[in-house]
Amino acid sequence: MKKDFISILDVTSDELKQILSDAIRLKQLRTRGTIHHVLRGKSLAMIFEKSSTRTHISFEVGMNELGGTALFLSTRDLQLGRGEEVRDTARVASRYVSAVMIRAYQHSTIEEFAQYATIPVINGLSDREHPCQLLADIMTIREHFGDMKGLRIAWVGDGNNVCNSLVLSSALTGMEISVASPGGYAPSKKIIRHAKEIGGTVRLTRSPDDAVRDADVIVTDTWISMGEENEREARLEAFRGYTVDEHLLKLASPDARVLHCLPAHRGEEISNGVIDGNQSLVWDEAENRLHAQKALLIKLLKNGK
Ligand code: CP
Ligand code: NVA
Repeated sequence: MKKDFISILDVTSDELKQILSDAIRLKQLRTRGTIHHVLRGKSLAMIFEKSSTRTHISFEVGMNELGGTALFLSTRDLQLGRGEEVRDTARVASRYVSAVMIRAYQHSTIEEFAQYATIPVINGLSDREHPCQLLADIMTIREHFGDMKGLRIAWVGDGNNVCNSLVLSSALTGMEISVASPGGYAPSKKIIRHAKEIGGTVRLTRSPDDAVRDADVIVTDTWISMGEENEREARLEAFRGYTVDEHLLKLASPDARVLHCLPAHRGEEISNGVIDGNQSLVWDEAENRLHAQKALLIKLLKNGK
């Protein structure tokens, strides 16, 4: 039975713990320069409808380091971009490669792909979730804080795809989350309901100050996600006052740390002082995409075709 990774909830909390432990071990092996070709002969197709730096590089390098191969496929070049059906592409790709990673505008595109594929399908970002990012984020939190249970997480800004996955991840790991977003930009109601159903503690507020007070981790992301460029002016207006800056950071726990999935828009959702400051973990977070996804790929592919 193939296993997909389309939502962060496609892994149980025990599976998540195992992926993180494997990721930390893979990071150590890499530091020592140990060759670890456990995916020799396996291949990953990486389909991108939108731009990417981290997801593209980390998956491609990750597959290579595990002895496999990765193919970068843009929908600008694929027949998919000229109207070939998702289900037909999924069936054909399943005959060639061991797994597919897709970055799509619509979450439903990835779900449809997974329905017709006979190989594992990984969500490399959709309008609903960014589960691979959360593997790296949780790994970074665990590396820094050790135990995650009871940590206070504050999200400041747009209740977007990354926020949705963070809300679900908090429920999965026992962290409490407060989300500060302006009216109309809160995370999906369905996601919040789901997080609460599985035992999550989620608090919504309009006030960044309230959300970050005594927080252990502050997380933010762009105010204008890919595909929302035509809303730029309205969004800049709506998010005024939601910048994660030095003033906001002072309200958090003195040992608080800051995450951002990148790319950052310095001076908008985050200030230069914060992203470059000594409470920022964003560069470790970006690096951890590589290690966390290698652990995920091994889990999904090791016993596959
Ligand atoms: N964080 C993230 O997914 O970055 P890219 O868009 O560069 O892949
Ligand atoms: N929320 C952002 C994340 C980019 C990695 C977007 O969807 O564009």
